[in-house]
Amino acid sequence: MGTLQSKWRYLVMILGAQLVIMALLSKEGYQKRVTYFFRIFRKPEVPPAGPLHNQTGRDVYANLSQLAKVPLQEEGLPYCPRKSPLVGGPIRVTFPSGLTLAEVERKNPLVVRGGRYRPPNCEARHRTAIIIPHRNREHHLKFLLYYLHPFLQRQQISYSIYVIHQARNFTFNRAKLMNVGFREAMREEDWECLFFHDVDLIPEDDRNTYICDAHPKHAAIAMDKFGYKLPYKSYFGGVSALTPLQYLKMNGFPNNYWGWGGEDDDIGIRVSLGGMLISRPALKVGRYKMIKHKLDEGNEMNPRRFNMLAKTRHTWRQDGMNTAEYEVLSRQYLPLYTNITVNIGTNKGLEPYRAAPGPHPTR
Ligand SMILES: *[C@@H]1O[C@H](CO)[C@@H](O)[C@H](O)[C@H]1NC(C)=O
Ligand SMILES: *[C@@H]1O[C@H](CO)[C@@H](O)[C@H](O)[C@H]1NC(C)=O
Ligand SMILES: *[C@@H]1O[C@H](CO)[C@@H](O)[C@H](O)[C@H]1NC(C)=O
Ligand SMILES: *[C@@H]1O[C@H](CO)[C@@H](O)[C@H](O)[C@H]1NC(C)=O
Repeated sequence: MGTLQSKWRYLVMILGAQLVIMALLSKEGYQKRVTYFFRIFRKPEVPPAGPLHNQTGRDVYANLSQLAKVPLQEEGLPYCPRKSPLVGGPIRVTFPSGLTLAEVERKNPLVVRGGRYRPPNCEARHRTAIIIPHRNREHHLKFLLYYLHPFLQRQQISYSIYVIHQARNFTFNRAKLMNVGFREAMREEDWECLFFHDVDLIPEDDRNTYICDAHPKHAAIAMDKFGYKLPYKSYFGGVSALTPLQYLKMNGFPNNYWGWGGEDDDIGIRVSLGGMLISRPALKVGRYKMIKHKLDEGNEMNPRRFNMLAKTRHTWRQDGMNTAEYEVLSRQYLPLYTNITVNIGTNKGLEPYRAAPGPHPTR
């Protein structure tokens, strides 16, 4: 009997000591470890029925159909509320096979020519242009449009989507296409904010509001490909947002990064050379799912990128928005986006498009 009692006493003492240690740990900010400790004792979570994405987030089109029923009114609309009642947080992102542009069109009855939208029942507080550099990615573009249109409608933003399509097959130049997008979008409308958006990144939380901040904003801070974390501190790739003033302050983006890589770091450096900081949304809302793909043909890795990055502080004033030379070949106002097709030349400069196959007239 006596031995049993002393055993109990030991047990109680050990438990008590553990509690004290845990209390100390949590007090010193080791909360993560403590929660881990508790998790060991918790019953294993019941595995979700069906695919995981089925359990998290909601349909990006939920509750949007009621908008279509509001009679369209042009004048005298009240301002939209500061916080959109349609925003609900995580969005379920899947890539159903067999999706067509016609289906995306059908699901977005309020989007008009050129991919333009205004909230039907209130005056938007924000006007944002979406700029998407593009070539040979029609498949990704379809999914992006499927998600981006309702995503922006949930946020009650007045917006338009511009696809900047690089003509011909010379090496891809993402940053120069964005310079083109900036100028061509601003030519059409006095946008407050421009979102520079990779075609293969789908936002997964509608609280990631597509408006600009007091400093250039890097929005794609948590991509699935990087484990939903920022890969490194100065990262500025994927999706970013600048006001026209911020854009001009850093002389836009570089024109001379041909091929994959480097240009986003150059842009990040320009932000600080322009005397600005990088603004970011919360980690839990700046989430993106990347559509998987191989490195495309015509967008090979740029081997010179590190040399070029080392020189940005000397070159940014001579290379950027002020020197972006290009030739717009066509402008199509399609139902879901404006397609601006552009000849941006090659690393040797801009040559007139029509003269391309034959000998070029000197200019
Ligand atoms: C979600 O799960 C249900 C059954 O659990 C299934 O019928 C449905 O197809 C799933 N949806 C998606 C998008 O996977
Ligand atoms: C959105 O729809 C859900 C049901 O699908 C409903 O419970 C919710 O109240 C709706 N929210 C708004 C703001 O209409
Ligand atoms: C582009 O196409 C032309 C002819 O169609 C071809 O000769 C050239 O090699 C191609 N260039 C690249 C970079 O693929
Ligand atoms: C944009 O227009 C060009 C020229 O008509 C066309 O070749 C290209 O496929 C179009 N791109 C998209 C994404 O619509």
